[in-house]
Amino acid sequence: MKFLLIVGFWISILIGNQECTPEQAQVFSITARTEEEVEILRNVSSDYETVLWQPAAPSYIKANMEVHLFIPAASMSTVKDLLSKHHISHRVMLSNVEELIEMQTRNETTDPRSGTSYYEKYHSLEDIYDWINITTQDHPEMVQLILIGSSYEKQPLFVLKLSGKERHPKRAMWIDCGIHAREWISPAFCLWFVQYAISFYNLNYDITEMLNNMDIYVLPVLNPDGYKYTWTKNRMWRKNRSRQEDSFCVGADLNRNFDANWCTEGASKRPCDETYCGRFPESEPEAMAVANFLRSHKHVMKLYLSIHSYSQMLLFPYSCSYEEATNHQELNELAHEAAMNIRRYYRNLYKYGPGAKTIYLAPGGSDDWAYNLGIPYSFTFELQDKGQYGFLLPPKYIAKACNEALIAVKTIALGVIKKT
Ligand code: ARG
Ligand code: ZN
Repeated sequence: MKFLLIVGFWISILIGNQECTPEQAQVFSITARTEEEVEILRNVSSDYETVLWQPAAPSYIKANMEVHLFIPAASMSTVKDLLSKHHISHRVMLSNVEELIEMQTRNETTDPRSGTSYYEKYHSLEDIYDWINITTQDHPEMVQLILIGSSYEKQPLFVLKLSGKERHPKRAMWIDCGIHAREWISPAFCLWFVQYAISFYNLNYDITEMLNNMDIYVLPVLNPDGYKYTWTKNRMWRKNRSRQEDSFCVGADLNRNFDANWCTEGASKRPCDETYCGRFPESEPEAMAVANFLRSHKHVMKLYLSIHSYSQMLLFPYSCSYEEATNHQELNELAHEAAMNIRRYYRNLYKYGPGAKTIYLAPGGSDDWAYNLGIPYSFTFELQDKGQYGFLLPPKYIAKACNEALIAVKTIALGVIKKT
């Protein structure tokens, strides 16, 4: 009898344990079919501890739109129960989130046989600062380091100015990466681009032509505080890390903080939201630093590019309204040509069009602001993928993602050189 009791005790512990085995974090793909379901989905993504991957904010959720939702282990059963209670079906997009994060942060630099280069890995903020130092030191003839400001947490904002042998071309272009912290492929692209420019100047026609006709300013990590935070605390972080006086929530969405229909529909006034627009336009030091730099170079700056992920799109103004840009036709042609080249050379499909009509209203974006400043060609790229891995794109896809983005950059830049 005593024996049975003991056995029973252990069995119940085992079963009990199994029941509360912490599940892994997962990413769900959910499509709401009715307005009622839309409402429920908006609530799930705002009231529970989940992170919306796509779209960027609950208010963007519409019927029949594919929603990508990251669900941490702790809220898994609650969210699942809620969905099934309302008969909303879901598809598990990613079930191995922890493993993917581990793969992205693994450092294989110690293994020389791994065969993948520095540029086919993701790098921490510290590593990127080291890279910036080494790259500028090793190529003084082509690269100049410019400090344009510092982040909320006082990290330096470094721009690399790339130039060919013609030291004073009358034109310039700008590329920024990493405005949103969790979009890791974006800084990876800026590093890729700089390395490519250095290595292939005078070897590849396109990049030589670009550098002979334009100075190229590259800001590899626009949001260093957020980027650091995704490496150390929360992989899904999007905003910067500024503190607000009247809220416990941290950070503003830097791509809602520029002065382009600032904080109208498509942005949020609430500091806890992912699309919080900040206290006023350029309230955030990162946005202000970029805006100041571009203002002081606006007469030479012909092309503005901002690199994001994910969804494979080439967007141009406007995102802050449904208005058509004055040179819509030209912008559309350049984007079309770029998308065509990506399809031709890499067999991948990119959508293109004005931001508001192609995805959603997003006021306060850097691209619209730069365009209104007078930079006539302005684009936001959303790189790979379309949701298979989302923000957790494994390192083995970096090369392809960057190469296809590179061909888009070349296509557009060469087009702009011809026009200006
Ligand atoms: N997905 C990005 C965001 O929500 C880009 C949206 C397009 N907006 C823009 N201004 N280009 O910020
Ligand atoms: Zn983004």
